[in-house]
Amino acid sequence: MEKMTILETTDLKYTYPDGTLAIEDVSISIEKGKKIALVGPNGSGKSTLFLLLNGTLKPQEGEIIFHGKPLLYEKASLRDVRKSVGIVFQNSDDQIFAPTVYQDVAFGPINLEMPEEEVAAKVNETLEYVGLLELKDKPPHHLSGGQKKKVAIAGVVVMEPEVIILDEPLTSLDPVGADEILDLLNELNQFEKAIVISTHDIDFAYSWADYIYLLVNRKIIGSGTPEEIFRDPGMLKDAGLRIPMVLEIYYEIQKRNMASVNRVPKTVPEIVDTLKPPSLIWLDVPEGVKEGDKLDLGLYAEQLGEICSEGVVDTRVLHIHESGQAIVAVKRIRAGIGRVLIYDTDNYKLKEIKGLLASGDFDVVGAMGKKTKLIVESDNLKPDLTVGVIDKSILTALCGKNVLIFTGGGMVDHAVRRISDYCKKSGVRINVDVFNRETGEAQD
Ligand SMILES: Nc1ncnc2c1ncn2[C@@H]1O[C@H](COP(=O)(O)OP(=O)(O)O)[C@@H](O)[C@H]1O
Ligand SMILES: [Mg+2]
Repeated sequence: MEKMTILETTDLKYTYPDGTLAIEDVSISIEKGKKIALVGPNGSGKSTLFLLLNGTLKPQEGEIIFHGKPLLYEKASLRDVRKSVGIVFQNSDDQIFAPTVYQDVAFGPINLEMPEEEVAAKVNETLEYVGLLELKDKPPHHLSGGQKKKVAIAGVVVMEPEVIILDEPLTSLDPVGADEILDLLNELNQFEKAIVISTHDIDFAYSWADYIYLLVNRKIIGSGTPEEIFRDPGMLKDAGLRIPMVLEIYYEIQKRNMASVNRVPKTVPEIVDTLKPPSLIWLDVPEGVKEGDKLDLGLYAEQLGEICSEGVVDTRVLHIHESGQAIVAVKRIRAGIGRVLIYDTDNYKLKEIKGLLASGDFDVVGAMGKKTKLIVESDNLKPDLTVGVIDKSILTALCGKNVLIFTGGGMVDHAVRRISDYCKKSGVRINVDVFNRETGEAQD
């Protein structure tokens, strides 16, 4: 992806009419296709900064630079920036005001004086994309928090912005609702939209963002990749932040000399990857076994519990305790890694899918992307995984099970890439195939 700066700010300062200084010396940069987290406590100036970014507020000092040119606060220039930089407010009720979902999402395009047919096509397409088509004639105030959030997002997405800014989008949602919104945002990001999220959720910012700005007391006190930010104890202390849970677990593993690599993990599959398998285990051994004997652990597999993707070779009994249990040294090898098959739902054929499911080759089925989930749901296929599908598929394959993932709309390549990246980094080989990749030819 080429580096392209869409929006920049230089030393912004903003004081509200009542004299409250809300933002000072704030310089940030938003590049195409990036996931950016603005992390800061309440009152640090996050919402104010967002209102400055699309010209709703005008700074007393500093500039907003949009595609290389300073933002001028007149009609045409404001219109340009607002079309391209969409904001989803923290409280959906501040954003949604039309009598129906459809009318609300149509508001922006109508305002741009788009022809009526074009508006209808765009709004319907967007509602389908976010999974709200069936609710289009409902009054928005009857919807759930997550659905309202989707309406607000649809109202922004319909304008085809380059940047989508969301002010604490996950705070008021339940975990399932939050996962769904996040899935949707990640999907939009795959299509090169820059996503900017304000949050005080450290775990989320650490594992999600490409780049983080720390905003404390109206100022940016640090910025960098999640690794850079969260490896700097001084910066964390200044910001009053704790370290992310994933890192905390990793540091504890490392302190106990149980980490086999020094690669700092960001996700659960990456934590798993750092674990050094134990080389000594306690086992019940049959009578007659002596110290120094080799054991065939095939017989003892159930005693080892769930051996995830590891076969045991070369065992030796080191010590037999009077209880009859023994300390056994084992060498392990990776074995029995499952495969991942991706089914491109852009070329969806129910019969074909039924065949795949009936083959019994797959232990776990996942569905990724809003549209795919709707298709799969309407055919009553009941996937096992619907959120965090890629990470969970990797974890499943590592346990020797096979996964079938339904996805489409450009997410196929994304899934292949993410799994291949994991394999490259970890040295584990998970076989990934696409069952029915688009060939460009019409299929019967
Ligand atoms: N409309 C307003 N009038 C006066 N002060 C405001 C207004 N909105 C926010 N502030 C103040 O500006 C500062 C930054 O607030 P805000 O941008 O809402 O921070 P955050 O979104 O990080 O919680 C706070 O001190 C807040 O009280
Ligand atoms: Mg706020």
